[in-house]
Amino acid sequence: MSSVRIQVLHQLLENEKEYLSGEELSKVLQISRTAVWKHIEELRKEGYVIEAQKKQGYRILEIPTTLSASTLLPKLSTKWLGHELHVYKEVESTQLIAQKLAREGAPSGTIVIADTQLAGKGRLGRKWYSPPGTGAWLSLILRPEIPVPSAPQLTLLAAVAILKGIRKVTPLEAGIKWPNDVLINGKKVAGILTELSAEADQINHVIVGVGINVSQEEKDFPEELQQMATSLEQEQGESIDRNDLIVSVLKEWEELYEMYIQYGFSPIKTLWEAYTVSLGKEIVARTLQGQYQGLALGITDEGVLLLQDREGVIHKIYSADIKTV
Ligand code: BTN
Repeated sequence: MSSVRIQVLHQLLENEKEYLSGEELSKVLQISRTAVWKHIEELRKEGYVIEAQKKQGYRILEIPTTLSASTLLPKLSTKWLGHELHVYKEVESTQLIAQKLAREGAPSGTIVIADTQLAGKGRLGRKWYSPPGTGAWLSLILRPEIPVPSAPQLTLLAAVAILKGIRKVTPLEAGIKWPNDVLINGKKVAGILTELSAEADQINHVIVGVGINVSQEEKDFPEELQQMATSLEQEQGESIDRNDLIVSVLKEWEELYEMYIQYGFSPIKTLWEAYTVSLGKEIVARTLQGQYQGLALGITDEGVLLLQDREGVIHKIYSADIKTV
């Protein structure tokens, strides 16, 4: 959407209850009245319902709930995160697009969103089901100047952002299961896949992919996931606007990331620990190297899980699927 059209939208949204005359709009935005009218027509084509009253002006009545840059940008109140925004109807995976953009020099904070993914990627080489119109499937490009071993911290940071973002737009009590699953009533509602590009000891970029199940019903999940997965609407019993959810998560993400850059991982770790449902419990961790059972003691400053087995040996778990026993 052109930046002028976004400004027209901003004006209409700021004055949602009142009429704004073509003259006022043309003065504020320094464009002709014909240009104002053309932008209004284009917005209508995109699904905005805008009333026009003679002598009074324009008034916005309805905002489309489809996912697009034009429905997201006017609601986005971040300072930088998501200002470069790529929204697609259908992609293989938003991770692949973000990786390509990152290699081409896209700035930190660039967001790629898709309505559906044909080959959505989950952790540990799994597939991530991303049917059309049902979820928030997005990838964020970050370029942090941090040591390579600290990169897992960004996954934990993202989990806190998703959780806080969900809590702002729903009354749902979400919790975090190490390292990166967001659960509601014990079922997974969101997952995170962090992919890193680094050379020697320097990070080029990190792509943090987030999948949030918004409106699937139980039958929409593959059978093997039905007992483990859920969606926000299933839990809330009410519909949720994906645009509101996404801008809420992005806002929290930006605040947490700025806090992280300024003060380090410590405040993020404290928040993560407050929201986690994994610590202090007997768990089984299945890693690519083997299985460990024991007490989930805590996380290190790198975001790595510490598991103490029956012999008292403490194992550092970098990546695994965990289950409470
Ligand atoms: C997990 O296995 O829990 C991680 C799931 C991550 C899914 C998201 S959806 C947006 C982004 N694009 C992908 O292909 N995967 C991530």
